[in-house]
Amino acid sequence: MSRPPPAAVIVLAAGEGMRMRSRRPKVLHLIGGRSLLEHALSAARGTAPQHLVVVVRHGRGLVVEHVTALDSEVLVAEQNEVPGTGRAVECALDRLPADLAGHVLVTYGDVPLLTSETLSELLEGHTAAGAAVSLITATLADPTGYGRVLRDADGAVTAIIEHQDATEEQRTVKEVNSGLYAFDLAALRGLLTEVGRHNAQGEKYLTDVVAIANGRGLTVRAHPIADLWQTEGVNDRVQLARLGAELNRRTLERLMRDGATVVDPATTWVDADVTIGADTVVHPNTQIHGATTIGVDCVIGPDTTLTDVEVGDGASVVRSQALLAVIGPGASVGPFSYLRPGTELGADGKIGGFVETKNARIAAGAKVPHLTYAGDVTIGECANIGAGTIFANYDGVTKHHSSVGANTFVGSNSVIVAPVDIAGDAYVAAGSAVTEDVHQGDLAVARGRQRNVVGWVARRRALPAEALDPHTEDPHTEDPTTEGSPT
Ligand code: UD1
Ligand code: MG
Repeated sequence: MSRPPPAAVIVLAAGEGMRMRSRRPKVLHLIGGRSLLEHALSAARGTAPQHLVVVVRHGRGLVVEHVTALDSEVLVAEQNEVPGTGRAVECALDRLPADLAGHVLVTYGDVPLLTSETLSELLEGHTAAGAAVSLITATLADPTGYGRVLRDADGAVTAIIEHQDATEEQRTVKEVNSGLYAFDLAALRGLLTEVGRHNAQGEKYLTDVVAIANGRGLTVRAHPIADLWQTEGVNDRVQLARLGAELNRRTLERLMRDGATVVDPATTWVDADVTIGADTVVHPNTQIHGATTIGVDCVIGPDTTLTDVEVGDGASVVRSQALLAVIGPGASVGPFSYLRPGTELGADGKIGGFVETKNARIAAGAKVPHLTYAGDVTIGECANIGAGTIFANYDGVTKHHSSVGANTFVGSNSVIVAPVDIAGDAYVAAGSAVTEDVHQGDLAVARGRQRNVVGWVARRRALPAEALDPHTEDPHTEDPTTEGSPT
């Protein structure tokens, strides 16, 4: 079936959200790595509207900043002091070209699980029926608080009555208005002029247009939906967590249907924008956030947190944490490592256990296998950084950069004091403190020379116990500053 794009989608986000008990506007709270409003805008954008309008009032400075950062083409409408969803829509219509024709969709900025498909189906049914007003309805076991859908003997929708304004009998109706609508634009403009504020809340209700349209003989159509999650809004932090968990469940289900294995969905959290390739296995207690992309045939987790990380095909990341890092194809990370921003591990490279990296470009096939800090460093292809190496990048005032060339071997427990350039095919002796550049093919030894004191142990054992008192000077031990063996 063809899907005509709407002339506009209007996203209502002017409400106060008091029950969040937050200094941050409600629609800026996050689930699945996106704000509630970003979810709503994304569903709206998916219908390819000619115009997208967001209605703001409470916390508008922050909300407008967020919206324009997300989508510079969004029109912002400010709601004035007249309260109510009807007034909010009126303010949005004022932002649209006066000669715009067609149909508009209305959604809420705090309803994050609604999909573009549902909106498109609503619009499709709406236009097919030649309706002036269509509304998504849901049948709830407990409809308390919602506007009830009133129907006549033939089942036609006659009115929406808000909970506060409803009689006891009307409150027994379990079909509720979800607050998601399609309208004929010209009809909506006319209908709204007739809406008053004679109700329990003194608000200009959008829902009043239903009865007015009905009175004018216009078609009003209910669009019942079975997937109630898509109509559920966030009012407090309990609902935020509940919808966040459901979004995660849906995201994991989509990824699994696309070929990723998620061993334990109950302990795996993946943000809405993450991509994971086929045959990748995600082990328990793993969180994958932001714009992370993971290739095919990878192993991620257990106990791993990735935020804005790119993982190439066939890589593995085990019990580790990474932020703004690139892990090349076939590379391996962990267990127990921490990749900070600017880490780029090349193809088949290795960052092993208890390694911290930052602003570190580690080329293909290079290995940083054990117990290392690598900050502000470039490491060439197939170089090997020995256990316990520290790249000392900070002199207490400024950060400096060091480099290690291709195929170079840095011995264990070395400290590379930046800025230092160690060329390719070089060696650094274990335990060195390298403070000067090392040239191609050279060996750098930068440590105290070893001396062996012949017979020292036997002589010490022969001493009387009182001579071993650590507080008395021991004339029989050797002067450590003297090189070579004593006579
Ligand atoms: C509204 C509907 C009700 C429906 C319910 C579904 C009306 C009069 N009632 O009720 O039939 O069952 O939604 O959740 O429409 N908003 C504004 N400006 C305002 C008031 C609200 O932009 O002046 C926005 C809010 O930010 C929110 C949405 O509209 O996103 C709904 O507002 P809310 O007060 O939660 O709606 P209800 O009164 O619960
Ligand atoms: Mg209200």
